Amino acid sequence: MNVLLLGSGGREHALARTLAGSPGINNFYASPGNPGIFHSAKRADIDSNNFYEVATFCKEQLIDLVVVGPELPLADGIVDFLAACGIPAFGPTKQAAQLESSKKFAKDFMQCYSIPTAKYNSFEATQVKDAHDYVEQTGSPIVIKADGLAAGKGVIVALNLEEAHLAINEIFGGMFGKSGERIVIEEFLEGEEASILAITDGKDFITLASAQDHKRIFDGDEGKNTGGMGAYSPAPIVTQQLLARIEKEIIAPTIQGMSMDGMPFVGCLYAGLMICKDGPKVIEFNVRFGDPEIQAVLAVFRGDFAGLLYSAAIGKLDKSKISNIAEGFACCVVLASKGYPDSYAKGFPIEGISNAESGGAIVFQAGTAMKENILITSGGRVLGVTGIGNSLKAAIDSAYKAVDSIHFENSYYRKDIGTKGLK
Ligand code: AMP
Ligand code: GLY
Repeated sequence: MNVLLLGSGGREHALARTLAGSPGINNFYASPGNPGIFHSAKRADIDSNNFYEVATFCKEQLIDLVVVGPELPLADGIVDFLAACGIPAFGPTKQAAQLESSKKFAKDFMQCYSIPTAKYNSFEATQVKDAHDYVEQTGSPIVIKADGLAAGKGVIVALNLEEAHLAINEIFGGMFGKSGERIVIEEFLEGEEASILAITDGKDFITLASAQDHKRIFDGDEGKNTGGMGAYSPAPIVTQQLLARIEKEIIAPTIQGMSMDGMPFVGCLYAGLMICKDGPKVIEFNVRFGDPEIQAVLAVFRGDFAGLLYSAAIGKLDKSKISNIAEGFACCVVLASKGYPDSYAKGFPIEGISNAESGGAIVFQAGTAMKENILITSGGRVLGVTGIGNSLKAAIDSAYKAVDSIHFENSYYRKDIGTKGLK
């Protein structure tokens, strides 16, 4: 099988490593890729934002499967374009991708199919006063969300009314551009978070190992929301019993509902959940693999991952491609550039990756680049240092031991990744 992977982050490095290790892989390409991804994939010399160029490359190189990493091309309809050219792709169509690209769409959908989620209301830019009145009526804490894509940063958890009013004004004022032309205001949910990733062909599904992300920048879940500062998998909070409930109350009805609405969802359905006292509730859907969750999830996955994704893409999910959802535990610590998620300096040489890996950890690259044959920092989240072990504690220790052997100027990481899972 010939595979093309689209994307360039830590998620795509994790996908690349597992796809390349799948049996039956013949030629494996990536675009735009990153230096880590190119350890296992050949560079496809195309503009991956240009769907026509992607399709032409697929035809020329006899690509059997395109795996789309990030949400943006999915929301822009790359899967529809490739399907029209007869090229199987793992990911949802533009319509189905609305589960992530519009929070109002997702909330209205969940309400329609009685999928548990926070109470909400949505407001257009012409309804600014109504939005302010709504938060006055409901009180704080309350959560204000830009409707569209915002790289994981479009959510403001307002602890008091002043913050809530400010958030409404900032979002409608253009803080997130077009993504903030509409807002969703929702009830604040209390509990612990967990991420469930389901692989689906639009009808049937199978869940990968559960995971827990760490969205806030500082230890103890303080500070701003980021794209994710670390993750571990499996997450002990998701017991077999809870997983069965999540599948029955959330995953299955979502896949069924999307199909009934004439937009079957194919790809990875990511449910970001709050485990509340009265059960699991959806905080958000994503329409692709979670990052950094997938770096931990795939570190413990055993099976034919490429075969699994291909079977979903062609509408014939083959669960037998998985031999073990999770062999042991994994913990991924994100090494970021100090200053992220705001502005930060970059361009610093990175040292120690091979030392870290010789100790058994896997180092996924996200914001890296090559300059004169030297690996340098080039983004906010630079590396995903993933430790593996027979217990969560062993995986955490392995990850932090590896972190200690990696150095670049201006690095920052959280010191408490995984500790919640030990409780
Ligand atoms: P999202 O991008 O929608 O996942 O939101 C980012 C983060 O904001 C989540 O991971 C939660 O920590 C927090 N959050 C979002 N919605 C809620 C909510 N309704 N109640 C409490 N926290 C929330
Ligand atoms: N880790 C959260 C996300 O992928 O959006």
